[in-house]
Amino acid sequence: MTTSTAVRTDRHLTDDDLADALHRDVLRGLTAMPKALPPKYFYDARGSELFEQITRLPEYYPTRTERAILGAYADEIAKLSGADTLVELGSGSSEKTRLLLDAMGSTGSLRRYVPVDVSESALAGAVRGLRPDYPDLAMHVVVADFDRHLHLLPQDGTRLVAFLGGTVGNLVPAERARFLRRIRAQLRDGDALLLGTDLVKDPARLVAAYDDAAGVTAEFNRNVLHVVNRELDADFVPDRFAHVAFWDAANERIEMRLRSEDARAVHVRALDLTVRFDRDEQMRTETSAKFRRDGVERELADAGLRLASWWTDPEGDFALSLSVPV
Ligand code: AVJ
Repeated sequence: MTTSTAVRTDRHLTDDDLADALHRDVLRGLTAMPKALPPKYFYDARGSELFEQITRLPEYYPTRTERAILGAYADEIAKLSGADTLVELGSGSSEKTRLLLDAMGSTGSLRRYVPVDVSESALAGAVRGLRPDYPDLAMHVVVADFDRHLHLLPQDGTRLVAFLGGTVGNLVPAERARFLRRIRAQLRDGDALLLGTDLVKDPARLVAAYDDAAGVTAEFNRNVLHVVNRELDADFVPDRFAHVAFWDAANERIEMRLRSEDARAVHVRALDLTVRFDRDEQMRTETSAKFRRDGVERELADAGLRLASWWTDPEGDFALSLSVPV
C-alpha cells in the first residue's frame, strides 16, 4: 500500500485582502503622475496563460536560460545548500522546481517543499502537478504575499529560499533593499537564498524580449486593463492602448508601458473615479530591472547576505546566485 504525505495549507491572505490591495493600488496608480499600474495584476488566469506563452517565445530568453543554468548546476546548488526544505517564492514553472527538487532529493536531505504565492489556485495547480511524482515529499502550501508575510514561513529545518525567474527585477531599488532585508531577517545559519536575476545585455535583445514579433507580450501587457475592467468595473478599451517596451539605460531596466491612442476619460466605477488620458499619454505597467554581478553582490551585502556562488549561462544572459546570512 502507498500513502502519500499530507499537504498542509496556511492561508495568510483572503480574497478580501486581495481585493482591498487591488483597490488601493489601482487608485494610487491611476491618480499618480505619471500613471502606473503594478505588474502583479497581470496574472489572472488569462494573464498567467499569456505569460506561459511568453516563456516559450524565441525572443524571451530568461526562462529557458535559467532552466539551463539549473539543469547544469542544480546538483551543486543542492550540495552547497544541504537544505531539507525548499521554500519557493512565487510558485513558478514546475519544470524549474523539479530540477531543484530532484537534485535536493538525490543529495538525500530534502523532505519538504513550501511553495508561497498570493494565488491559491496557482499553488493548488503546482501541487497537483508535483504530488504524483514526489509522493514522499511533504508539501506545505503558503498563501501569502511574500512582501508582507515572510515571517510566517515555516521556521524549522534548514531552508533554501528560491526566488527565480528574475521577478526580483519587478521591484525598484528601494523595494528590493527592503525585500532582501526581510528575507535576511528570516534566515539563520545554514539557510540560503537562491536568486534568479536577468543580466544587462545588448538593448536590442532586451527590447525584443519584451516586444515579441507575435504580439504575445502586447496582449499580456493589455491584460492588466481587462483585469481592472472586470475587478473594478472600469471601461478601459484595451485595444486602444498600444504596447511599449522601453529600455531605460540610466536605470538599466525595461519598462513596459501602455500608450493611449486617444484622448479619453476612463471610468472606474468601483473606485468612483474618472481618469483622463491625453492622446499618446503613457502609463507604466512594469519595470524589469537587469543586473550586473557587482550590483547584485552589493545589494545582497547591504541586506546582510554574502554572495557565496554565482552561476550564469555561457553567454552571460542570466544569473543564479546563492547567498548566505552573514
Ligand atoms: C515574470 C517578472 C520575470 O519581468 O521578464 C515577461 C514578466 N513581463 N514579459 C519579466 C514579463 C513581460 C517577467 N517576470
